[in-house]
Amino acid sequence: MIDRTTVERIIDAADIVDVVSDFVSLKKRGQNYLGLCPFHNDRRPSFNVSRTKGIYKCFACGAGGGVVNFVMEHEQMTYVEALRYLAKKYHIEIEERELTDAERMAENERESMLVVNEFALQFFEDQLTNTREGQEIGMSYFKERGFTQESIKKFHLGYSPEGRSALYDAAIKKGYNREVLFSVGLCIDDNKGGGYDRFRGRVMFPVFNIAGKVIAFGGRTLHDDKAKYVNSPESMIYTKGNEIYGLFQAKRAISKEEKCFIVEGYADVISMRQSGFENVIASSGTALTDGQIQKIHRFTQNVTELFDGDDAGVHAAMRGVDLLLRQGMNIKILLLPEGEDPDSFARSHASHEVKTYIDEHETDFISFKTNVLLKDCQDDPIKRGAAIREIVQSIALIPDQFIRMEFAKQCSNRFGYEEKVVMAEIGKQIQKNREKEYKDRRGAESGETTVPIGAGTDVPTVGPDRPHRPYKNNKKDFQALLDRYEGDLIRYVVKYGMCYLCDTEYDDGQSRPTTLVEYVKNELEADSMRFSNPVYQRIFDISVQLVPHFYESLEAKNVQEQEEMQRLLKQGIIEIQQKGVDSIDTATKLEEELTARLSSKVNEELQIFREQYLQKRLCSDVDDSVRNVALKLVEDLPALSRIHTEFGAVVVNEIDKLVPLVSKAIYAWKNAIVNKLRHEAQLKLENAGPEELAKLMKELQYLDGLRAKLASLIGDPVINLL
Ligand code: CTP
Ligand code: MN
Repeated sequence: MIDRTTVERIIDAADIVDVVSDFVSLKKRGQNYLGLCPFHNDRRPSFNVSRTKGIYKCFACGAGGGVVNFVMEHEQMTYVEALRYLAKKYHIEIEERELTDAERMAENERESMLVVNEFALQFFEDQLTNTREGQEIGMSYFKERGFTQESIKKFHLGYSPEGRSALYDAAIKKGYNREVLFSVGLCIDDNKGGGYDRFRGRVMFPVFNIAGKVIAFGGRTLHDDKAKYVNSPESMIYTKGNEIYGLFQAKRAISKEEKCFIVEGYADVISMRQSGFENVIASSGTALTDGQIQKIHRFTQNVTELFDGDDAGVHAAMRGVDLLLRQGMNIKILLLPEGEDPDSFARSHASHEVKTYIDEHETDFISFKTNVLLKDCQDDPIKRGAAIREIVQSIALIPDQFIRMEFAKQCSNRFGYEEKVVMAEIGKQIQKNREKEYKDRRGAESGETTVPIGAGTDVPTVGPDRPHRPYKNNKKDFQALLDRYEGDLIRYVVKYGMCYLCDTEYDDGQSRPTTLVEYVKNELEADSMRFSNPVYQRIFDISVQLVPHFYESLEAKNVQEQEEMQRLLKQGIIEIQQKGVDSIDTATKLEEELTARLSSKVNEELQIFREQYLQKRLCSDVDDSVRNVALKLVEDLPALSRIHTEFGAVVVNEIDKLVPLVSKAIYAWKNAIVNKLRHEAQLKLENAGPEELAKLMKELQYLDGLRAKLASLIGDPVINLL
């Protein structure tokens, strides 16, 4: 374990341009640096690095992060390994010490969930190899399936004993917190002060995230259980739709081979690997989500989906592939012989046979679709028309125009249309898609116009792992409004948290300069408010904790800058004297000018220091969700600002308007809460008894008063109409 102060020293010392340059050659372009993205097959430079923000972002594949992320992703290291790497590069000594179990628990909730999962992983592995039950039931099952010892180790397979609470008891004995066992879903509260195990009597397949942390488990029954697989429930550390089984073990091979095989199940991944295919991952039985595709895209653009050769397989192949096309993936489809899945096929054939089969039967998606659709329609012109329309729609989703053209050519050959005609149809379809996108965005913006905050900001607020839906100005959608305002506010915190906002008079009667974070903290504490989004709250808590450290560092920075300024001033004065001036007045004037110039330089440096302080740390935080959300919040997407200006929105320089922007964000949020409460009270009013009626009326009156006050603070009557 590395303590927080050391982590901060490392993050402070690490210069992102310097770190990235060890692997990618970067050219300065304006304020940023540009190069070929190392996370996908980049032909034109799309990889941006911002020194001042301390982040990188690929505009083609979407990879992005802070300096620690870069090392993690590029060198396939865990967070701690990446920190060690950076510490070594910058000659920072790490004092490591073992944390006690109790300290581990206290670190934070997420961390303790991961720790409990790690414990369970070892427990299940130990049960499998070192107990009689594990050997006789679990191990013999794996052997029967043909899994090798090497696979069992590589995928950390395990066994969860039949006993009602074997894991629960072992964990409690070791001092793990029962609430955490419940929150990760390993155990279930029996409401009698104890708990029982979710995965009793199952063989265990742990699910790792890209960094190699165990975030969930899948347990397969060994009996005739209704549920063949039981999986961990979603939790703070596990969003099912965002994780991919096997990616951690496969990512190196995927980037090396520039290709990824997608299969359905856990066993498929393992058997394929035993046949010599290391670049295999599983969608775990469901269609891939956007989040999963983005993760794969970091390692390759080329995917081959393996399906059973039956009707269900063909249907699965036809469905859901548009998502992959839209993200610029090159998709191939492989149908296995009927009745086989990748697991059974790989086990019943030698590896070279599997390889030959794949090479011979892999087809690109468009040909696959064409074959299937054409097979059904014979010479029926109406069916043929519908078929070509469907294919055109898929081709229109491909972002790369050259690839689109290639497919258009193929398609026109197959259907016997002129290429020009097909291209024109594709063009029309693209236009249609664009219009739809435009409309969706307009919908989002017209919601914005009723609310002054956020108008003019260049990045729409997007919650963590939530797709950005166009916001409908529905008066009842109070929660959506709350989310938006929270998002606006936390974005200011991340981007400008340590910037000076205003002077605040505290209880001791003294007036002190206040940072944005402190200001927001005071405002929220005054009304006992918290962010309803847990990641936002966590970001906010970390930011508040950092305030005292920030002031210390600012002071040190200030001293250093002042010394530098004095040095330059002395040097400058000597130069002025040496040059010789005609009068003392001129000399004084020159000296004054120099002083002014140097002190404005100092102020500029300190301002940059303030602006960088929080985003740099949050974007490299140990907590994945903090890091990812922070990153989303600080990213300036050029594409988006272009759209904004195209549609006539004003892009303001936020930093010059922090005071009004932040106070409006807070008041609008408070206002949204008041409106929500008001709405709830009104609903109650409809079927309230006489006694309750009086109480509710009073409450409404009070809330109306608040609303009026807030409206005057916000200074915009529009907001009151919501
Ligand atoms: N799956 C799941 N929950 C279920 C059923 C399936 O999560 N109740 C996921 C698992 O990841 C599983 C995959 O979907 O591996 C494919 O399901 P299925 O084809 O039913 O299982 P197989 O992988 O073939 O399992 P096995 O070979 O062990 O019978
Ligand atoms: Mn199977």
